[in-house]
Amino acid sequence: MYDLVVIGSGPGGYIAAIRAAQLDMKVAVVERYATFGGTCLNVGCIPSKALLESSERYEEAKDHFADHGITINEVSFDLKKMLARKDEVVASLTGGVAGLFQKNDIATFQGHGTIVDAKKVEVKKDDGSVETLETERILIATGSKPITLPGVELDKEYIVDSTGALEFQEVPEHLVIIGAGVIGLELGSVWRRLGAKVTVIEYLDEIFGGRADKDVSRLAQRVFKKQGIAFELGAAVTGAEVKDGKVTATFEQKGETKTIECDRLLVGVGRKPYTEGLGLENIGLETTKRGFIEVNEHYETSVEGVYAIGDVIPGPMLAHLAEHEGVTCVERIKGIAGHVNYDAIPDVVYTHPEIASVGKTEQQLKEAGIKFKAGKFPFKANGRARALNDTEGFVKILADAETDRILGAHIIGPRAGDLIAELAVAVEFGSSAEDIARSTHAHPTLAEVIKEAALDVDGRTLNL
Ligand code: FAD
Ligand code: NAI
Repeated sequence: MYDLVVIGSGPGGYIAAIRAAQLDMKVAVVERYATFGGTCLNVGCIPSKALLESSERYEEAKDHFADHGITINEVSFDLKKMLARKDEVVASLTGGVAGLFQKNDIATFQGHGTIVDAKKVEVKKDDGSVETLETERILIATGSKPITLPGVELDKEYIVDSTGALEFQEVPEHLVIIGAGVIGLELGSVWRRLGAKVTVIEYLDEIFGGRADKDVSRLAQRVFKKQGIAFELGAAVTGAEVKDGKVTATFEQKGETKTIECDRLLVGVGRKPYTEGLGLENIGLETTKRGFIEVNEHYETSVEGVYAIGDVIPGPMLAHLAEHEGVTCVERIKGIAGHVNYDAIPDVVYTHPEIASVGKTEQQLKEAGIKFKAGKFPFKANGRARALNDTEGFVKILADAETDRILGAHIIGPRAGDLIAELAVAVEFGSSAEDIARSTHAHPTLAEVIKEAALDVDGRTLNL
């Protein structure tokens, strides 16, 4: 009898399992794929970041080394090697998860998990054999899968989802992407840097699904356009057809029907919770209209002893959030007061420049009628950014008009994804902008832009 059976070994499931083992629970993990780590490690965060890194280095060498006085006669790349390196990074990390399971005495079962009742999970292995696990509790961490569009059938060669776009064996001449979200802009950046013409077709009139702070999304769109990504905004794709190795997509824009031809079409219009074959009906657990499993503050579903975390529950679909929910869920089972502050979850887009945020946007604060002060500071006035030759962007801090407490922070610029950590901690600890402004930031670092933005909340920047 296990104390906890975790279904799914993504960042939510594997981290929850490790924390549960640390808390002396007898734990088993069920994973249907051959390797552990879920979407994030196998076909998400990690392979995409590996390719973003490789393609950025190529572009840097090709276009920007000369600015530093470095001459390279010819820069080229070997796509096969680049893809193989990505696969090696993935393999080392998924293997690492297997090692962590072993180290923490976590039992693992490779196969599809189905909930038979609230205390029983059946694992169907690839060879057809079935094993039944008895358990006190079940944690559903089955994640998500890409949303498909009616009329746009994935053939996994010409019309692909993010997984296919991480594996193109040659650089497409023209890559059309449906959806100017995180996947579209990250993977669009990869293939554009490697030489593809990239066009992004987006349903809304702005990028990032309208969720980013407007100052940030406006600048980002301008920069991406300058880099060579073309945007068709306010455009709804209605269908796509493959003929003679070319894809023709049809879309409606401002009342007109248009077509666009390309070599590869990437569908990046969001992800949906994955609960297929999970046996929710066996325990009378219903999902929301959009397929999510609802939970209470303990991450317990409406069925006692059955918990859920990560992409499969409502909320942002982020690896670090899934992890945090996993830890919190398990700690609460053990009576420890873990918690997730949903206002302090950083969100990062790994394009160049990087884009990162935490807390509320200016638009959200205005809609909620909350009075705030805004401080903003550009990277171009920062010594380290100048030395790096990477000066596009800014840091913007939004603080409560009365208490000065930081309510939101938005960064577009070099290493934004690393810089946001300071502001996420600030929001979590309830810091004021003055707290940041009065903390010493090493010189010369990019983090000084955060300090200056905090000073600007009170109208007293020093270097501008
Ligand atoms: P998942 O990682 O999806 O894991 C669920 C696991 O459950 C899977 O391994 C699946 O096989 C298994 N499973 C499902 N059903 C069963 C069953 N019945 N039996 C057994 N096993 C089952 N997030 C970030 O924070 N940063 C990023 O940079 C980032 N980049 C991304 C890039 C791409 C291209 C994609 C697609 C996603 C990216 N994400 C990123 C999102 C991130 O991958 C997810 O938010 C995260 O993986 C969710 O974790 P999870 O544990 O909830 O689910
Ligand atoms: P997304 O929700 O970020 O973006 C989808 C975009 O597609 C939106 O802009 C939406 O308006 C648009 N869209 C929807 N239907 C459309 C249609 N019919 N025609 C044209 N446009 C349409 O989803 P995305 O990019 O697929 O990513 C999925 C999830 O994976 C996200 O929730 C994200 O959190 C996660 N992810 C996170 C990353 C990160 O943290 N760096 C990287 C990649 C993915």
